[in-house]
Amino acid sequence: VDGQRIRHKGFWFRPEFITASEAIRAHYTPLPSDIILASFPKTGTTWLKALTSSILRHSSTIHDNHDHLDNLNPHEVVPFLEIELFGENASKDITKISCPRVFNTHLPLSFLPDTVTTSGSKLIYITRHPADTFVSLWHLYKNKFGTEITIRQAFDDFCKGLVPAGPYFDHVLEFWDARDRDRVLFLTYEDLKEKPEENVKRIADFLGCKTTVEKVVKECSFENMKNTSKEREGVHWSGTKYDMFFRKGVVGDWKNHLTQEMMKELENIADLKWSESGLDLSVFNNNAS
Ligand code: A3P
Repeated sequence: VDGQRIRHKGFWFRPEFITASEAIRAHYTPLPSDIILASFPKTGTTWLKALTSSILRHSSTIHDNHDHLDNLNPHEVVPFLEIELFGENASKDITKISCPRVFNTHLPLSFLPDTVTTSGSKLIYITRHPADTFVSLWHLYKNKFGTEITIRQAFDDFCKGLVPAGPYFDHVLEFWDARDRDRVLFLTYEDLKEKPEENVKRIADFLGCKTTVEKVVKECSFENMKNTSKEREGVHWSGTKYDMFFRKGVVGDWKNHLTQEMMKELENIADLKWSESGLDLSVFNNNAS
């Protein structure tokens, strides 16, 4: 929908992502203070970016240096590793960013340098039920690209993995398999929605920060972020207007768009791809089903 994608090491990306991932593997050396926020598109990336920068901003402990994070637009303070820092037209210089550096990426773990989990840097992965992830992606296709394909065709593509960073199931699996490593935190959108305070505390503890949990939760609430995004000038590097990252922000919207039979299809793929790993859709707390 948004241009040609090619398959590389089992995942579908536009060619510039592949070139950038090679540059990242060759030239990016994670610092122990680096924080990498990884996600599949539409699973809560913007929210996690906002939460992390807000936690650091309101931290009274080790990360006292947060001047570079004192901006409420998460897309400005948390650059996209493969495009803004290592893409062909990179707009930011990684060596000029103050520490702690916070990056975001949609690359699968296998595309990142092995040192991201061994150099002392921290990695947070957020994921979301595939049905709601697809529905969020579908709205982006419609609202941004004005796609004319039907939801059924788009759903078939999602199931086949023919979406940016797809297949979704393989993407989640790579980070799930790494979840027990030191310095890796695996979160779900559903759990964050249900227990925001508990999860903000979890993220803060993981980052070694003491923070004002209530302040962070409020600052990063869907309503607050949606409202402030409307006043923002400019666009995200992908051409998406900032306010388009905030649509509904709920769990279970799939019920308004997908049939039970489509849900069954997702369950079958999850069984097929995840059964050996111990991962299943109950990781989303059954909230979405
Ligand atoms: P919906 O389209 O289901 O509303 P990403 O940031 O990875 O592109 O994900 C976008 C999804 O996260 C959208 O989902 C968006 O509304 C939701 N979202 C963004 N900010 C949020 C927030 N602060 N709280 C809850 N959901 C949020």
